[in-house]
Amino acid sequence: KRRIGVMTSGGDAPGMNGSVRAVVRMALHSNCEAYAIYEGYDGLVKGGDMIKEMKWEDVRGFLSEGGTLIGTARCMEFMQRDGRRTAAKNMILKGIDALVICGGDGSLTGADRFRDEWPSLLEELVKEKELTAEQVAPFKHLNIVGLVGSIDNDLSMTDATIGCYSSLARICEAIDSVDTTATSHQRAFVVETMGRHCGWLTLMAGVATGSDFIFIPEQPAKEGWEGNMLNIIRKHRQMGKRKTIVIVAEGAIDEKLNKITPHQIKEILSEAGLDTRVTTLGHVQRGGQPAAYDRMLSTLQGVEAVKAVLEATPETPSPVICMIENKIVRRPLLEAVAQTKKVAEAIEKKDFRTAMELRDAE
Ligand code: F6P
Repeated sequence: KRRIGVMTSGGDAPGMNGSVRAVVRMALHSNCEAYAIYEGYDGLVKGGDMIKEMKWEDVRGFLSEGGTLIGTARCMEFMQRDGRRTAAKNMILKGIDALVICGGDGSLTGADRFRDEWPSLLEELVKEKELTAEQVAPFKHLNIVGLVGSIDNDLSMTDATIGCYSSLARICEAIDSVDTTATSHQRAFVVETMGRHCGWLTLMAGVATGSDFIFIPEQPAKEGWEGNMLNIIRKHRQMGKRKTIVIVAEGAIDEKLNKITPHQIKEILSEAGLDTRVTTLGHVQRGGQPAAYDRMLSTLQGVEAVKAVLEATPETPSPVICMIENKIVRRPLLEAVAQTKKVAEAIEKKDFRTAMELRDAE
């Protein structure tokens, strides 16, 4: 029987448990054995009890749970070749040669590197007498399949990452709460949102809550933005709006690449006569139960991931399971990561036109 491992890696995201559940159950349904790797790459390097066989009922109740029940960690040892060699050994000792990883672009790139090195890692293990040639013989190739789990929705080639819609819902709920108190006091609130270098959460929250102004990394604030923002806010107030909501992505910048901070905006609004408060949503945005969309997405993508494992040939490049125009599709993992990096590099080089074109091209 084929043995398939599943793990979650990087920052947790609501819906990750749904993907573990789907991979485990689809593996069992396909007459394979399923193994959960606890605490991300850390569990792979430690081996032993950190790699546990999972039965159908072991993932009962996972679908509606937030975070990741099998844990996640940032593992320094796996970054070193020695760590990856130990990980390969632990997998062989458990008879696993296929791994489904739910994580962000960094975690997925690490996984593909592991796949690439796999044959030479096995050679080393035999040479160092850590395993015998007979032990490694049945495990010539490692299959890797990526599932994108991140609240940031920052991976190219997929319309939605597992977790982003739950986070968006949480942000909207929080802003709705801020709204009632803001309206009561006719106050302005500057709300800081997560997303790292990606403004998706902020842009969508701005649309979904009807905020007055947003700041996102993809559209750095142009010179004179302060006056522009105040004009818009004044206009809204003149139309009878009793509150002001400005949302700032944590990666927001101006055209000179200076970071735009919530407190800087608070100063500007306060000087303009608005009683202003700052609310940093922080990890509340990443926590709590997954929204219906993420339960659906993680389940369908987990099923597809197991199909991808079973259909893979040694020549198949590692796939990442995506959602494009409402369809679950496979894309080459490394291409998706490379495209994502190009967007970030274009932003770093202040080449915003290219960054926007690359985003549009997705
Ligand atoms: O990638 C998810 C994310 O929540 C980002 O939005 C944020 O920048 C980062 O992780 C926070 O990381 P940590 O949980 O390590 O503070």
